[in-house]
Parts: sequence; structure tokens; C-alpha cells
Amino acid sequence: MFNREKYNQERAEALKAQIKDLEKRFEEYIEKNIDVRNQTINNVATPDVVKKIMETPIGCQGRDPREVGDEIADCIMGATIRTNHPRFFSFVTSAISPYSIAGEVLSCLYNPNMGSYMISQGPMLVEEKLVKWAGSLAGFDADTVGGIFTSGGSLSNLTGMIAGREAKLPGREDLSRAVAFCSDQAHSSIRKGMRMMGLRNDQIVIVESDDKFKIRTDRLTEAIDLAIAEGKKPFLLVGTIGTTNTGSIDPLDKLGAIAEKYGLWLHVDGAYGGSILFSDIYRNLAHGLERADSFSWDFHKWALQTYSCSCVIVKDKTNLLNAFSEHPEYLEDVISTEHNDGWDLGIEMSRPARSIKLWYTIQAMGTDLIADIIDYSFFNASIAAKRFAEAEDFEIISTPSCGTINVRYAPKDVDPALYDKLNVKISDELINSGYAFIVTTVLKGKKCLRMIAINGNTDTADVLSTVEKIKEIAKTVKKETV
Ligand SMILES: Cc1ncc(COP(=O)(O)O)c(C=O)c1O
Repeated sequence: MFNREKYNQERAEALKAQIKDLEKRFEEYIEKNIDVRNQTINNVATPDVVKKIMETPIGCQGRDPREVGDEIADCIMGATIRTNHPRFFSFVTSAISPYSIAGEVLSCLYNPNMGSYMISQGPMLVEEKLVKWAGSLAGFDADTVGGIFTSGGSLSNLTGMIAGREAKLPGREDLSRAVAFCSDQAHSSIRKGMRMMGLRNDQIVIVESDDKFKIRTDRLTEAIDLAIAEGKKPFLLVGTIGTTNTGSIDPLDKLGAIAEKYGLWLHVDGAYGGSILFSDIYRNLAHGLERADSFSWDFHKWALQTYSCSCVIVKDKTNLLNAFSEHPEYLEDVISTEHNDGWDLGIEMSRPARSIKLWYTIQAMGTDLIADIIDYSFFNASIAAKRFAEAEDFEIISTPSCGTINVRYAPKDVDPALYDKLNVKISDELINSGYAFIVTTVLKGKKCLRMIAINGNTDTADVLSTVEKIKEIAKTVKKETV
């Protein structure tokens, strides 16, 4: 028989013990990471870890929580690549502010449900305020702007594009002949999202990018004209600030003019590059963003936040409400009139308060310090590019943009047919060395090394030593391969 009194008492004691235990774990984490620069990055699950996790029973009776916590900290979390390492140059991933961690912990502790304004007023006001702030940086009107914090760029992009579908294809009668456009450098979540919105592959037009990996607007207008001539209904255009491959920024002003001319919804994926809005130096690269209808911005990519913390901002909030509002009978009493409920602005119903950690960070650090980190990323990528350009066997495939560069080892005395293989081997060797983490991508048919220098823990010395390490590895790989 369930003993409520005993359960309550044990639960209160467990919470106290867990908080004490967490303090100890935080200290251990700090201790372990103080010297992270001299530790290897590449922690994968050893056969022992795999066995341990797979063989741990899910039992009817609980066990010592300290033992469980130890296993999580050491064994489970120990088997993760150290993305906080200063020489982790892959994925679009952020160093973490202590205030983001504190905000995350507080959000967990209070556990507000961000579906409803009525039951989570404080955190919902914070979210509203941050959406207006982000919207004002994007150049949107504070009176009409709306938005919502989501789990990441993928969901933010989907949310913005669905708002566009509802605005441009009301009633959806035209959905079967609707066409959406994005560049060959758009993130996979754009194509995935378009498919999830009900578009077939032949309704998604991928437009070629230029030699700077920006969408070719001449090709775009040709493609739109062709679609119209074929009796199709162009309705959505997606541009990017900070493409995943190269950090390139599409010509947003031109995209805005095209969207206006053809009556398209313009969504801008700023999941990665949106954070340039923090920077007084680089903000102008997002010129034209004010012409967009919706905009995604991930704070867990380049603004010091833990996963997950993303935001979609829509110029006219009505479009979000039209797309997502649902008022079932069981919510009638809690529907808010003066403020919006989270469930009316997006896909999720119950949501964590993802905006609290960003609020904590911005309030505690100020935006200038985040801007410095953004500016420093640009600087570090430029330094890397300079060093690679000086090394005669490396070709710069994409010039630095938003802290990312792509280079290719291309020794002149080796058959170019071997270059792809050489670059994959360099990446493998570098990762296996545990010194730095860089993976390859393919640009204009060429396999290259993609270095994303946006990790706020990275010093210029880390960039320079990694370039030297790559040059060293390249020589060995060449000897072994040719
Ligand atoms: C430009 C861009 N958009 C969207 C995404 C998807 O973001 P998330 O992984 O948070 O869903 C990424 C991920 O790297 C990205 O680089």
C-alpha cells in the first residue's frame, strides 16, 4: 500500500541530498575541466561502457542514488565527445556560460509549463520580452512581432515555414501545386521541414549557390518564373545567415525584394549566424533581415546556452496565431486574453522555460561580452585562413564567414584524384590523436576540412596549434597514401 507520508518525507530529504550531491558534482566537473585544454577530446563509449549501460536492469526497486549519479557522471556522460574543448572545431556548438547552467537548473527546479501564460506568468513575460528584443535586433516592429522559444533550429525553421504556409496558402487548396525555394547550402532541416509541411520533393526547388556559397538570385528568379509558367504556386523562400557548411550569408536584401515581387513568405534561418546581431561590428552583414517574415535564431549555437535554446521570431504575430491556435474545452478557463499562450504560438504544448537561461546570461554578463565572443570567432577564423593560405599545399575552399572556414589539402605533386581521400584521412588522424576535432564536408564536389571556430573557449593559440598539427598530419598522410 502506498504510504503517502513516508513518500513525502523521503522526497524532501532526497531533494536536499541531491542538491548537496550536485554541488559536489559541479565541483568535480570544474576540477576535471580546469585543464581541459590538455585533455583529449575524443571520448567515445568503450566496450565496457556499452556493456554497463546495456546490462543495467530497469528494476522495480530503486537503488542507491549516489551510485546512479556516479554512473551518469563518469560512465554515461564520460562517453561523450568534449564539445566544450577549445579545439573542438566541429558542429555548430557553443561554449556554455555558467549563467546558462544556473538558469537551466532553476528552470528545472521550478518546472514552469510554458504552454500557458496564466500558469507561468513570470517566465512567459521573460520570453515575451526576449522575443521583442530579438525582433527589434532583426528590425521587426515591436507592436506586431511575435515568437516562441523552441528546442532548436529545426523546430524554429519548421514553425516559421508553417506560419508562411498558412499565410500564403490559406485553406491549403493550392498545396499540391505549391513550390518552395532554398539554396543548395540551406540546412537539412529546411528540406526536412518542407517535406513535413506536406511538400513532395518535386515541390522543393534547390537553387545553386555562387562561389561564396550564397544563393544565386539570378537562378532563383529564373526558377520562380519557370514555376509560374508551369502553373505552379511559389509561396516560400528560405535564406540563411550562417550556412552550416561555410557560414555564408545569403543576400537578404535581394531575397526580400524577390519575395516582395512574387508575394513569397521569406523565412531566414539564422539558427547559427543570428548571433551576429549581438555584434556592433558584424550586425550589418544581416542587412535586409528586416524584410523577412520569419527568422530563426539558436542561442545554443553561438550565444553560450546549453541545449536547447532557440527562438523563432515572426514579423506579424497574427501569422503564428493563425497557424497554431487551438482552444479545446479543457483549456477554456486558462486561456489568456492580454498575453499569448505558448500553445497558440507554436508546435509544442508543454514546454520548459528555455528563455530563462538566456535571460540569466544576458542579465548577468551583458550583451557586450557575448558580442566580444562573436567578434573573436570571426578573428580566429581569419587567422586560420591566413595560416592555411601561407601553407603552399592547402587551398582555401571557403573564405572565413561567421567564424567558419573550409580548406583542402591539395599538394601539387599528388594526383588530384587522391585529394578527397587525403582530406578524410587527415580528419580521421586528427580526431584519433585526441588533439582537435575537425570533420570534412563537400563543397562544389570537393571534400574539405571544415573548421568552425565559434566555440567561445577557443583561443587564437588553439587555432594556430591546430593548423600546425593539421600540416604535420597532412605530411604523414601523404607519405602513407601516395
Ligand atoms: C544553419 C542551421 N540551421 C538549422 C540547424 C538545426 O539546428 P538544431 O540542431 O538546433 O535543430 C543547424 C544546425 O547546425 C544549422 O547550422
